[in-house]
Amino acid sequence: MKEYTYISTDLEATHDLGELLGKHAKENMVFLLDGDLGAGKTALTQGIAKGLEIRRAVTSPTFTIQKIYHGRLNLYHIDAYRLENTQQDLGFDEFFYDDGLTVIEWAQFVPYLIPEEYLKVSITLEENGNRRFVLEAHGSEYETLLEEIR
Ligand SMILES: Nc1ncnc2c1ncn2[C@@H]1O[C@H](COP(=O)(O)OP(=O)(O)OP(=O)(O)O)[C@@H](O)[C@H]1O
Ligand SMILES: [Mg+2]
Repeated sequence: MKEYTYISTDLEATHDLGELLGKHAKENMVFLLDGDLGAGKTALTQGIAKGLEIRRAVTSPTFTIQKIYHGRLNLYHIDAYRLENTQQDLGFDEFFYDDGLTVIEWAQFVPYLIPEEYLKVSITLEENGNRRFVLEAHGSEYETLLEEIR
């Protein structure tokens, strides 16, 4: 399966989707989260952390760019928002070789970080307040992941 759409009616439903993704994530995977301010990227990441059995609370890494959490797999949480219009290479590519899952908010600001294969999650806010999550698999490992969580 290449694409899967999930409608979230509240924060808990977003956490549930994230938890499922975290439970099925494999090491070296990369998730790119797209969506406006307040769409639910960090909320989804909180669910992912739960699925990875991370106990520490996940908060927005905006002021630090990246945070590392330890669980079943390590979680490398990057928020590239502040890197808009910067070209600096932060050397983050090494994260993709570690035993963990990398989750990037605002990945369009760090195109040099985007690997060949990844899961893209696009979040849009609907008029009634629901969040629409469109999950797009780029690579067979991610297609399998979508089969597992749907
Ligand atoms: N269905 C929902 N899913 C996720 N968040 C929701 C939902 N309904 C309401 N919310 C609220 O929307 C906000 C989402 O904030 P969050 O920090 O996750 O957004 P973000 O996409 O990470 O934004 P930013 O670009 O600023 O990092 C939270 O305050 C949350 O309580
Ligand atoms: Mg955020």
